[in-house]
Amino acid sequence: MPNERSYETALRRSNEIAADLEKNPSAYRMLTGDRPTGRLHLGHYFGTIKRRVELQNMGVNTAVLIADYQVITDRDTTEHIQDNVYNMVMDYLACGIDPKKTMIYAHSAVPACNQLMLPFLSLVSEAELQRNPTVKAEMEASGHELTGLLLTYPVHQACDILFCKGNVVPVGRDQLPHIELTRLIARKFNNRYGTVFPEVDALLSDTPLLPGLDGRKMSKSYGNAISISMTAEETAKRIKKSQTDPERMITFDPEARPGVSGLLSTAAICTGRSEVEIAEEIGMSGAGALKKYVTEAVNSYFEPIRERRRRFEQDLDYVKDVLHEGNRRANEIAEATLNEVREAMGMVY
Ligand code: TRP
Repeated sequence: MPNERSYETALRRSNEIAADLEKNPSAYRMLTGDRPTGRLHLGHYFGTIKRRVELQNMGVNTAVLIADYQVITDRDTTEHIQDNVYNMVMDYLACGIDPKKTMIYAHSAVPACNQLMLPFLSLVSEAELQRNPTVKAEMEASGHELTGLLLTYPVHQACDILFCKGNVVPVGRDQLPHIELTRLIARKFNNRYGTVFPEVDALLSDTPLLPGLDGRKMSKSYGNAISISMTAEETAKRIKKSQTDPERMITFDPEARPGVSGLLSTAAICTGRSEVEIAEEIGMSGAGALKKYVTEAVNSYFEPIRERRRRFEQDLDYVKDVLHEGNRRANEIAEATLNEVREAMGMVY
């Protein structure tokens, strides 16, 4: 990409924005999203959801997108999609996303947002799409063929961000190529037709990625993740089953002892203590004691969140109302932006 910026540049810009957000929250519109492929887990919570709630409560204009069309980028079915979407809304609400402050909406419910895809596709070359390292990685990880949708979903993601004139997107490092492409599309559109879209920046998380219970990348398919929606008992069972090693003495060593260290990281993030401190405290009491400690740490941190979640589980009508209201607001914004786009392009009849 001609305007590609290095990770360091993106990080510097992200730090500047993080500082400015405190002073000028109303100058920002934050948009971020998740694919509804299952329940949200601790990796999502500590990696992004917690930060979204903080930004929302600071007065940043926030929007959260349930990216249902992205589900079919690398899989061939929409099985369970409705259930996953409602449950995602429940997870958000339980974690403190406040629908009065944050618009929660679904891709498929906002046709005017999706229509931006046509002009935006004309602003990117095939080579730019083929080069995207995240698309390549997702293709390899899923074993799915490179469909037109998988190849072009970063453009679709640019529509998500730009339809509401989002200018700050909290994402992990893997999403940076998509933010770069969004910047490129906005710049090209503005140069060609007149300024409609803002300059977008990533807000990178400064908390290190939480590994799964076995020390590998946290993923539902590895069975190493704890979902927000699990009960205390399910959580205890999952932790009990996690793999450690025969050495009794507990130490923090992610390379040599991924299982023990994954457990320590989970306990550390839930208690605010360091992994080393917890390891020293448990010492020769062994993996059984460590697992007991982790279980208590997770269950007590998530108890109020899970209690709220149970209330929303009992009130599906409310959950649907939240989504319908978010969809309604998103449609209003998307139609206004699409009108600006048509005007800028002279397509007014
Ligand atoms: N691609 C993101 C993911 O896989 C989800 C997503 C969709 C997103 N649209 C977005 C993230 C817009 C940020 C902004 O997690």
